[in-house]
Amino acid sequence: MPDAITVENVAKHFQEGTGVSHVLRDLSLRVAQGEFVSLMGPSGSGKTTLLALVAGLDVPDSGSIRLAGRALDEMTEDERSDLRLRSMGLVFQSFNLLPTFSVLENVLWPLEFTGAGDAEARARARAGLAEVGLAGDLLERRPAELSGGEQQRVAIARALVTDPGIVLADEPTGNLDSESGRTVLDLLRRLNQERGATVVLVTHSAAAATWGDRTVELRDGRIVRESRPTEQRRELDV
Ligand SMILES: Nc1ncnc2c1ncn2[C@@H]1O[C@H](COP(=O)(O)OP(=O)(O)OP(=O)(O)O)[C@@H](O)[C@H]1O
Ligand SMILES: [Mg+2]
Repeated sequence: MPDAITVENVAKHFQEGTGVSHVLRDLSLRVAQGEFVSLMGPSGSGKTTLLALVAGLDVPDSGSIRLAGRALDEMTEDERSDLRLRSMGLVFQSFNLLPTFSVLENVLWPLEFTGAGDAEARARARAGLAEVGLAGDLLERRPAELSGGEQQRVAIARALVTDPGIVLADEPTGNLDSESGRTVLDLLRRLNQERGATVVLVTHSAAAATWGDRTVELRDGRIVRESRPTEQRRELDV
């Protein structure tokens, strides 16, 4: 079986004024189908940049990225976009909620591309929101009428409602209290164990990282360490 995600010798730089900042340097990472990888590293080490490349939202300077064996740079923009809509659950640091849509509509939206009927889509969206602790009147509000943590949970519900094969979550617990954080981590873990989803979780929390099978540490755009969580996993405050 091919890896779910294959990153090979990827480099990425950004122009900074007159200078160049090398954000990823010759980075290689393989994530197996059904694996749950936690990605850690200091601010600015390249974690979000790496996720954006894996999602096909940006292109590397050199090197290749394959999803289930398919090279992203050999797909058309439409194919990449289709892949994201149908097979990926993306949770970004900026939640990218649609401001004029209600909470419920934000979560319903990705289901429009899956062929689910209206009643089924509504039921799934409500169930997904309930899983992250959102229900009732709140579902009719606009994102601007929610707290940061609530917005984050809507973004998580939206990313997971299509039952994606690959989940890329960039600090999904960053704005949450420890109980909500734990709920979200358990949700990711369940999706991984029960539905076989491949998960890449970016986190600054060593405790949250223990929800995964393997922790990969980035520093200055390179992988500097890999480890496997021990038995104390998932018992710590996140
Ligand atoms: N579009 C861009 N243009 C210029 N520089 C960028 C751009 N995106 C990221 N960078 C720079 O690349 C570096 C890595 O950024 P990245 O967002 O990947 O870090 P990160 O590891 O996700 O950090 P954090 O933990 O703070 O989210 C940073 O120095 C950042 O300023
Ligand atoms: Mg980031």
